[in-house]
Amino acid sequence: MQTKTNREQLYAPYDWYRQMRETQPVYHDPDWGAWHVFRYADVARVLSEYVTFSSDESRYQPAEYQENSPISSSILRMDPPRHRQLRNLVSQAFTPRMVAQMELRISEITNGLLDQVAAKGEMDAIRDLAYPLPVTVIAELLGIPTEFREDFKRWSDALVSGDEETTEEERQALFQEIGGMFGYFSQVLEERRAHPQNDLVSALLAAEVDGQHLNDLELLGFCGLLLVAGNETTTNLIGNLILCLDENPGVVERLRANRALVPGAVEEALRYYSPIKTMTRYASTATTIGDQHIEAGQVIIPWISSADRDEAEFPDADRFDSEREPNSHLGFGRGIHFCLGAPLARLEVKTALNAMLDRLPGTWQVADVPLEPIRSFIVFGTKNLPLTWGA
Ligand code: HEM
Repeated sequence: MQTKTNREQLYAPYDWYRQMRETQPVYHDPDWGAWHVFRYADVARVLSEYVTFSSDESRYQPAEYQENSPISSSILRMDPPRHRQLRNLVSQAFTPRMVAQMELRISEITNGLLDQVAAKGEMDAIRDLAYPLPVTVIAELLGIPTEFREDFKRWSDALVSGDEETTEEERQALFQEIGGMFGYFSQVLEERRAHPQNDLVSALLAAEVDGQHLNDLELLGFCGLLLVAGNETTTNLIGNLILCLDENPGVVERLRANRALVPGAVEEALRYYSPIKTMTRYASTATTIGDQHIEAGQVIIPWISSADRDEAEFPDADRFDSEREPNSHLGFGRGIHFCLGAPLARLEVKTALNAMLDRLPGTWQVADVPLEPIRSFIVFGTKNLPLTWGA
């Protein structure tokens, strides 16, 4: 494995995870007022035991701490029974079969993007491929016409940006952007209600459980969730997979010769550099994790990217093994909240990798320049990824 010095900043969290797994696997952080959980068995339990570990932020957080985005009122932040009802509803529209029908189109979009760069022998893999691919796919799934794609990208950025350094003025500008997005989606809902099409919005309008449809707010929330949940995560999985391949010479050649190995390589990238670092849960009753006592109402932070490097679950966990078997990583979560978009994300990334293997010949090399980590508590990835091929 080759790790270039310019990536030290990007990879720094992994040293912290290892240290915490060994020394303080369940750690109460006074600054955050939360419990951090680092080992695989504990993280898997926190993610999947939904009765003890609630996802419903609104029950445990004061209003001013709640995230003000479509995510906060979405299935991601609900507990049963409402979670089950709504998830069943949206699953009717967002089926693996519908996703499979997208395969040809995903391949066309990917090849269109690679057409722009293939002859140059270089690209920024984030800017030129990993970023535009998922946003275009979701826009098409939702039936958003081409002329709105640029707006759509700006809205999606507005939804995921913002951290502790964002100024009040910037926050107001973001809210305006997000308001614009909901205004636009409301119009789309009206149109599709009057004239249903063969798209996800029309399918969501038609879906019902026990004679109940989604209301307008839930529909808007779900469209917003798809934008947020499906974009940056998939972008980072493509980027992180390219990093894994760059650090492990010879794997690209093996994949090129045997495409049956491609899905396994995608799964291993999900484990090795998980695009989602962590989720949040709230203890609904007093419980214990490891030898620590957790009080009802306390916040729990299960670190997926630490769990996925736990030697107790993955032999030789710090080695990227594209043929690892079994590979029960937690990259898409576990249990009732398991990622609804997993079939779509897997298809997009598999298609992107296959097209790259077809079209970008020779050795791939990520330039030895500083890679700028995305400043986020939740997502792991790099903002830039200069890649060359053909040598
Ligand atoms: C590589 C890409 C992706 C990764 C790593 C990822 C990761 C995750 C994870 C870890 C969860 C579980 C959250 C929890 O337990 O609280 C989740 C849930 C979810 N994801 Fe993804 N996701 C990806 C792509 C997508 C895409 C493409 C979509 C849709 C277009 C999507 C839609 C969702 C939804 C709707 C949920 C909520 C499910 C529920 O609460 O029942 N995701 N995702």
